[in-house]
Amino acid sequence: MEGSAVVVEKLHKIYDNKVHAVRGISFRVDKGEIFGLIGPNGAGKSTTLRMIVGLIKPTKGRIRVMGIDVVKNPVEVKKYIGYLPEEADVYERLTGLEHLRFYAMLRGLQGYELDRAVEYGVKLSGLEMQSLERRASEYSKGMKRRLLLASVLMTRPKLAILDEPTSGLDVYASVNVRRMIKEYVRETGASIILSSHNMLEVEYLCNRVAFIARGRIIVEAEPKRIKEMYGAENLEDAFVKAVKEAEER
Ligand SMILES: Nc1ncnc2c1ncn2[C@@H]1O[C@H](COP(=O)(O)OP(=O)(O)OP(=O)(O)O)[C@@H](O)[C@H]1O
Ligand SMILES: [Mg+2]
Repeated sequence: MEGSAVVVEKLHKIYDNKVHAVRGISFRVDKGEIFGLIGPNGAGKSTTLRMIVGLIKPTKGRIRVMGIDVVKNPVEVKKYIGYLPEEADVYERLTGLEHLRFYAMLRGLQGYELDRAVEYGVKLSGLEMQSLERRASEYSKGMKRRLLLASVLMTRPKLAILDEPTSGLDVYASVNVRRMIKEYVRETGASIILSSHNMLEVEYLCNRVAFIARGRIIVEAEPKRIKEMYGAENLEDAFVKAVKEAEER
């Protein structure tokens, strides 16, 4: 469909002919939308995100990003995607600023375009120039995450895939990261798919949320609508009810 940034259809992943990690997931993400995948450990969130980015191949099913088939045209699709992996870390030896320049170069930017991307990265990161000139190995976890997220977003990908962008961060650092995500979408109209364990976070950030458990989406809707569906006061409560219902089915 024209307006969809991402279309995922009946996606499956079976690892090593054994672990059926993703079992027929389908969803769409519109342009300018923040879509959240939420679910317990091992639910299949990272596996789903890695397939969308093109890092691992689906066992079955189809993924299109900006109308392009991810499996058939992996190189073309990469132009549109920025990816923050779950286990992302900084390079010990580089300063913050060098990180931004390095990632911009990796994405093939030079000259004026590179400078412009780095400038935007600096702004998005919200880090002081004094900090950016220090080695990133000396940063706090929160500062590292802001730097890494800025390096993903500074080239203005039309689709950013963020695997647990705030995991391990304190409340204050998480708020900063969430602000960066919101600001980015507001300024660029890009789409975001993120995974999280934090219900407050997805409620604050996401236009739509999918609950995922054991490789299947059990509910997918706007946070407000999900709460109504389950007569729940918050998403956590709705999630518990949804999982219980799915298990009784
Ligand atoms: N490379 C791999 N090889 C084999 N099995 C894997 C691999 N990666 C993940 N799995 C399995 O697939 C299932 C889903 O894992 P996945 O990492 O996608 O879950 P997740 O929802 O991201 O969990 P978490 O919240 O802990 O990050 C798990 O059972 C996991 O053990
Ligand atoms: Mg994961």
